[in-house]
Amino acid sequence: MQNTPDDLVIENLSIRFGALQVLNGINLNIAAGEFFAFLGPSGSGKSTLLRAIAGFGPKPAGRILIGGDDVTALPPWNRNVGMVFQSYALWPHLSVFKNVAFGLHERKVPRDEIRSRVNEALEMVNLSGYGERRPAQLSGGQQQRVAIARTLVVKPRVLLLDEPLSNLDANLRVRMRGDIRELQQRLGLTTIFVTHDQEEANTICDRLAVLDGGVLQQVGTPARLYDQPGNLFVAQFLGATNVLPVQVERAEAPAVLVTEAGTRINFPAAVSARRGALIFRPQSVQTRNADSAADGAVHLSGRVKNVEFLGSLIRYVIAAEKTAIQIEQSYRRGDRQLAPDAKVDLAITTDQMQFLPTEP
Ligand SMILES: Nc1ncnc2c1ncn2[C@@H]1O[C@H](COP(=O)(O)OP(=O)(O)O)[C@@H](O)[C@H]1O
Ligand SMILES: [Mg+2]
Repeated sequence: MQNTPDDLVIENLSIRFGALQVLNGINLNIAAGEFFAFLGPSGSGKSTLLRAIAGFGPKPAGRILIGGDDVTALPPWNRNVGMVFQSYALWPHLSVFKNVAFGLHERKVPRDEIRSRVNEALEMVNLSGYGERRPAQLSGGQQQRVAIARTLVVKPRVLLLDEPLSNLDANLRVRMRGDIRELQQRLGLTTIFVTHDQEEANTICDRLAVLDGGVLQQVGTPARLYDQPGNLFVAQFLGATNVLPVQVERAEAPAVLVTEAGTRINFPAAVSARRGALIFRPQSVQTRNADSAADGAVHLSGRVKNVEFLGSLIRYVIAAEKTAIQIEQSYRRGDRQLAPDAKVDLAITTDQMQFLPTEP
């Protein structure tokens, strides 16, 4: 995001539950109006980080600034953030209207203003006319939208959403993520969306942070993290990838890398490690025929172990280099398929490969 002031700054944030270190030295800047995602496996610390921003959970080490103000010592209700919990946490005995109005009553907002703001919030989430219903009379997706309306009605500076779609079925999840994105854009609201689903994060956010073991692994746009993962964890978490372990025979450019099967690979860049892995995506592998044997490509040979026909593409597993290499080819009507057990030559251009060190 260009030249917009940061709405949220996290400085060297660490959190422990007793002896358990759950977040470790997190630094992060999120710009005003940005749609940001926290992505990571279960237990990586996403909820703990989100809750810390909202003011819940153990007292952290480090600082949290919202709109330039240090809020680290402030209680949740003085932070100007709105949080939507995974469970929705709606009051079952109150109407939709009263659920949404709740935070405004607590803030002693006058009655007339409550009415107009609640109606406005219900309209934002396409629930005008549902005010008198009880949560139990709504579908899961509608309940989710009530939870969002209830948060938006207090006009938070930062909207926090903790796995907001995980209770919905797959189709609705896809539709709701589009709706949330659309609403966020319309309101220009700084938003953090927590998910363990890489596709969900990629389709919805401007930038994301990948977390693992309470440590921030990498921050960037979805495409940048996919193309230039900083480590093996990020490479593998952001989609299928091939990992070919190599020894470094020569580190200076052009480097010489040797696979476990003894194949020597000339790699144009310099590398600074003794051991590492070459990583490349399945769609970057060509099955070789005479005219694709371009210069600057790595050639490997193997046998087809498995074929998955997926309609728009075919996914093969190739036994090669003492490992299994995944390849994907787009499929058009009438294209030829490789047969199981067929011998196949693979070509990967080195610009489609990245070296990641595993040992200094
Ligand atoms: N209240 C708590 N007490 C003790 N440990 C907790 C508590 N909440 C979370 N944890 C631990 O902190 C780690 C991160 O949890 P969490 O932030 O919920 O992860 P995520 O949201 O990424 O799944 C986990 O190991 C979890 O068991
Ligand atoms: Mg969680």
